[in-house]
Amino acid sequence: MKEFLNILLLGRGGREGALAEKILKSPRTRKLYTMPGEFPGCHHLPGSSLDFDRVAEIVGDYEIDLVVAGPEASIVAGIYDALSGLDVKVIAPDSDAARLEGSKEFAKEFMISHAIPSPRFMSVTSDTLDEGLSFLESQTPPYVIKADGLAGGRGVLIVSDLDQAKATLTSMIDGLFGESSQTVIVEEFVPGPECSLFYAIDGEDYIYLGSALDYKRFEDGDQGPNTAGLGAVSPALCIDKNPELIEKVEKRILLPTIRGLKEEGIDYRGFLYLGLKEVDGEPVMLEYNVRLGDPESQVLIPRMKSDIIDIFEGIADRTLALKQMELSPIHAVGVVLTAEGYPDNPRKGDTITGIQQARNLGCSVYTGAVSTNPEDGAILTDGGRIATVVGLSDNPSDARNLAYKGVNLIDFYGKYNRSDIGL
Ligand code: GLY
Repeated sequence: MKEFLNILLLGRGGREGALAEKILKSPRTRKLYTMPGEFPGCHHLPGSSLDFDRVAEIVGDYEIDLVVAGPEASIVAGIYDALSGLDVKVIAPDSDAARLEGSKEFAKEFMISHAIPSPRFMSVTSDTLDEGLSFLESQTPPYVIKADGLAGGRGVLIVSDLDQAKATLTSMIDGLFGESSQTVIVEEFVPGPECSLFYAIDGEDYIYLGSALDYKRFEDGDQGPNTAGLGAVSPALCIDKNPELIEKVEKRILLPTIRGLKEEGIDYRGFLYLGLKEVDGEPVMLEYNVRLGDPESQVLIPRMKSDIIDIFEGIADRTLALKQMELSPIHAVGVVLTAEGYPDNPRKGDTITGIQQARNLGCSVYTGAVSTNPEDGAILTDGGRIATVVGLSDNPSDARNLAYKGVNLIDFYGKYNRSDIGL
């Protein structure tokens, strides 16, 4: 890979904001273009990260050396494949490899084929709905019901009542998430906190990037509907205080995954994160994600001391064996602010104030679904997850206090956040 790079970063969420900040810190970054997100210090390009013709045009017009794809939607839709004829490196697994996230049925079958410990499940379609309903009856509550395809982080429902679980399964099959829920996975529930472990993979070798814990439910105390994530902390103490568990994850989950991919002729190069729980000292694999997490990236990336371009290079040139990631032992707590109406129907167009004040206090603020008013430059809400406010400190409680002080400085109509992130 060239020494100095023009980089195009796709996506517009807080994850991409954290990536942009980190990419800009690299002495190897010549210019950083972002589409469609607008982040400080970047050259913003309008367009959609799913418009691959436009991405290819930009690669040519702006002499882009490296494309970094943040969102799963672009990766699963095949951004790697779409750019494969061009003289550009792409940080994303190809669409074949991305099925690990793009189809939960594929992922579950992959886990079974490669003896990766994971909960019992049944895959249900309209032809097997009756068997699916009987499978639910054979389970104990709560019931885990997952849309097979991507659903913006909302496709996993955990339901405590059997009748409601049956109604949920039926409505998913009837099209609750469109094509994404034509197939539905009903899975045995595994108790306990879900931790995320992040890796970079170059087809052969891997580097552990660190851990995070994501708060997926909408309300305090892990109640309410599942969301794409309303807060995160890094490190996840359940992982980092337990090196034996990390070893078991690598031996029982990560290495069998890399071997299994190779056996199936799948060349996996990119980020991979494992969502798992610990049961009786053993890791149980819940899901693969073929990218960095959001909001987990906003708490993980600020802890990275190494140059992230080195990691991109390792992935793209299959040289991860020569690389390493140095992580700061600092703690990061990130609190997500959401718009009125999130997650069902977020309201747009409200003016956001206080972001700079929160930054002045020492918080990192990564904006997500926002836009800029062209008339006065005001930042407006433009979707569900508006921003993540991150506090960093030597100890978790100071990091949490700092994050919440920053949260209190930011305001917009209908602002909502959980109050128990990092507790
Ligand atoms: N926070 C979960 C995700 O990125 O999918």
